[in-house]
Formats: sequence, structure tokens, C-alpha cells
Amino acid sequence: MNLEKLIKSKKAKVAVIGVGYVGLPTAVEIAQAGFQVFAIDIKKERVDLVNRGKSYIFDVSSKELKKVVKAKKLKAFNNHAPLKNSDIVLICVPTPLDKNKVPDVSYIEKTTEEIAKNLHKNQLIILESSTYPGTTREVILAKLRETGLKVGKDFFLAYSPERLDPTNKQYKLKDVSRVVGGITKKCTNLVVKFYQTFIKAKIVPLSSTEAAEMTKILENTFRLVNISMINELGLLCSKMGIDIWEVIEAAKTKPYGFMPFYPSPKCGGHCIPLDPFYLEHKAKEYNFWIRFIELAGEINELMPHQVVTRVIWALNLKKKPVRNSKILVWGVAYKRDVGDVRGSAAEEIIPDLLKKGAKIDYFDPYVKTLALKNSFLKKPVSLRSIKYSPKMLKKYDLVLILTDHSGLDYDKLVKNAKFVVDTRNAIKSRKHKNVSWL
Ligand SMILES: NC(=O)c1ccc[n+]([C@@H]2O[C@H](COP(=O)([O-])OP(=O)(O)OC[C@H]3O[C@@H](n4cnc5c(N)ncnc54)[C@H](O)[C@@H]3O)[C@@H](O)[C@H]2O)c1
Repeated sequence: MNLEKLIKSKKAKVAVIGVGYVGLPTAVEIAQAGFQVFAIDIKKERVDLVNRGKSYIFDVSSKELKKVVKAKKLKAFNNHAPLKNSDIVLICVPTPLDKNKVPDVSYIEKTTEEIAKNLHKNQLIILESSTYPGTTREVILAKLRETGLKVGKDFFLAYSPERLDPTNKQYKLKDVSRVVGGITKKCTNLVVKFYQTFIKAKIVPLSSTEAAEMTKILENTFRLVNISMINELGLLCSKMGIDIWEVIEAAKTKPYGFMPFYPSPKCGGHCIPLDPFYLEHKAKEYNFWIRFIELAGEINELMPHQVVTRVIWALNLKKKPVRNSKILVWGVAYKRDVGDVRGSAAEEIIPDLLKKGAKIDYFDPYVKTLALKNSFLKKPVSLRSIKYSPKMLKKYDLVLILTDHSGLDYDKLVKNAKFVVDTRNAIKSRKHKNVSWL
């Protein structure tokens, strides 16, 4: 049976490589649509959890995971052997930066090596990881070509960025439209047909893999530039004694031409703050400096430093040096209601305050333990979230809100704390004298 028929009849076997924040919801969605799915991951603990029907990702419930595992529609593997029997392969592996902020596409390279070993006729490969324009062609196609098989004829290759927004209940994976760019038209068409089987939203075919890769970079850069702009404005407003949140609410009353973005201690996560560096790396190949975007990235990277300065200022008001001050960091995840700490402000701010001699505890209902490795620290530090009660707040000189998880009582927090630095506008009332809003 040709691939198109296998897709239509849902008889195509699908491998999802990398079952993290993106890969697991994707694998479950495809299995729910009726396909046989092989979930492949190098982390044995994740593979074991999937096979036991226990979800470790907020957007997937254990109930729905268990259902597809029990129905034998989804099975996880700690090796790449299922690639041999897969008709469609989705790559959802990490694309981090190295310590010098250079794109690290080694996860894609390693995955491609495994795919190349198992590549066979009529197989469709789709890269979903966020990356710089050119990756699909230069990293994946270049390697797969070595097999002697011809793209667009023997096998098919495309890029389609995952646009998932973790914890977003309104737009789940299948509600978000997809852009697709194949190496050839046939590659694109096959991916469109495949996504149509489990995505409810529109599928948008593009002219090339590069256009699809750049689309993802544009979306994320748009957010980063705007968040950095509002953070810069927020810092200025704070110096001028103007409440930036009041200003944003006022600007929102304009019915067109304005879109609200909100201040934060850093725009974190695994995608948005990394993309300017991915683009910068590629742009330099063309002797082009993306100065405006680089500047947004720089402002974002400096935000944690601004927060530390605010903490020092607040302690100073209380005649306290940072050294030996007791600080409770409230929320260490990169955004509300997730347990993901990658790229979070806390990863920068806590080591900086520890180096300055502060005594740090943290509270985060979603992050039980926090492992910190940072240039501020001589050796890695491991912290455990405290068991919170409002009464215990008295023992801290300062509470620093870095993440405004929902369902927590911020009124009680402010009533019981000596002083609060609120980087998220978690405390809405402006009547409190013991709060500084960043
Ligand atoms: N997290 C998000 O909200 C989000 C949203 C959109 C796009 N993305 C992009 O999707 C990609 C994946 O992100 P994520 O957040 O799911 O990462 P993640 O770290 O949660 O998951 C990636 C998984 O890939 C596994 N892996 C690494 N190398 C492997 C290999 N060779 N074989 C098999 N498994 C391997 C890891 O063990 C991990 O479990 C990134 O490029 C990211 O930028 C993420």
C-alpha cells in the first residue's frame, strides 16, 4: 500500500522521537486518531512512565494516556528499533543553546543518524523541533542522502513547527493550525494529508522547509521583541513612579493597533528566548546582523540582573544587606502553572543571590526539586520546595515572586510577608505598603 493510502486508512505506523512537552501530547493525539504509535525516548524513566500510563506532562492526563496504552495504540521504546517498521517519523527532540549561546543541533543530528540507519522506501520524516532556517535541508537531508535513497521519490522529508502552548486549555494541540514546508511538493502534500487526520485547525502548506522554519522563528521573535520592549518600558516606568500595569490596561482600551504584553523577570522557556540566537547564528552566514532582535535577546538576558538589583534595593530599605538575608523565592517555573524550569528567571536569580550570601528557600507547587548549575556557582546546587504555610512567611526578610501560579492566596501572602518584590503583578491591590512591583 502506498503512503497516502496508509495515511487515509490510518494503517500507517508512526514513530515519535522524543516524548517530552511536545512529543508526548503529539504521540497521544495521533494514537487517539487511530494510528499505531511508537514513542521513542533515550530517557528510560519517561519510557517506563508512558508504558505504565503515567503522564509527566501537564497537557496530557494519565487517564487519556492509559487509554491509548491499554488499547495498544501507543507503546514507548528506549531504543530506535521501531524506526524500521515506521511509515512516518516525527522528530520532537530538544534544540538548546550551548554555554556560549550557539545553537546545539546535536540532538537532531543523533536522531538523524538513527533514522538514516533505518530509512526505507515510502517513509515520511517530519522535523517538529524549533530551529534555524536551513536545518531540515542542511542537517537532515544531507545525512539521509548518503543512504542513496532519493527525497521526494523514495522517501519524503518536511518541516512543520510545533506551536503548542503548554497549559493553554482553549488551544490544545489539535486546535492550532499547522504550517508545513516539504523538500518537494509531494513531501508537503503527504504531511498535509497526515496532519488532516488529527489536527482540527487549518493546515497551511508553504513553498519550502526554510519558509516553515522561518515562520516559527518569526512567531517566537515577535513575542520576544514585544516582551523585551515592555520590560524595558516597565523598568523606566518604575523609575518614573508610573505603574506599568495600569498603563497596559489603559492602552488595551484602544480597539486596534495594540496588543498587550506584560512585564516579567525574564521571558523563559525552551523556545522563545532561544530563537534570536538560532537566527543570529544563521544570519551571520549571510554577513547580516539582526541587531534589533539581538538587542531584544540581550534585554531579556539582563532582566534577571534587574530583578536582583531590585531585591538589593528592597533589602536596603529594611537596612539589610543581601548577605545572610532570608529570601523566599515564590515560583521557579518559567511561566504560570507549569513545572518546566528551563530558561526560567529563577535559574539565574537564585544562583546570583546565593553567591551574594543570601539564604534562599523556594516554594513552587509544580517543581518539587530544583537543580541549579550556573557560572555564579562553584558547584551544582540542589534545592527542594518548602511546604508552604502563610505563617512561615514571617521568617523571611523578603518574598520574591517570580512565577504567579494560579490558585494560590496572594492576599494571605502579602498580609503575612515582611516585604514582597512582585515581578508578575500577582498582587493586584496597590494599597499595600510592603510590596514593590517590578
Ligand atoms: N515546550 C514547548 O512548549 C515547546 C513548544 C513548541 C515547540 N517546542 C520545541 O519542540 C522541541 C522539543 O521540546 P520539548 O519541550 O518537548 O523538549 P523536552 O526536553 O521536553 O523533550 C525532548 C525529549 O527528547 C528526548 N531525546 C533527546 N534526544 C533523543 C534521541 N536521540 N532519541 C530519542 N529521544 C531523544 C529527550 O530525552 C526528551 O525526553 C524543541 O525544539 C522545542 O524548542 C517546544
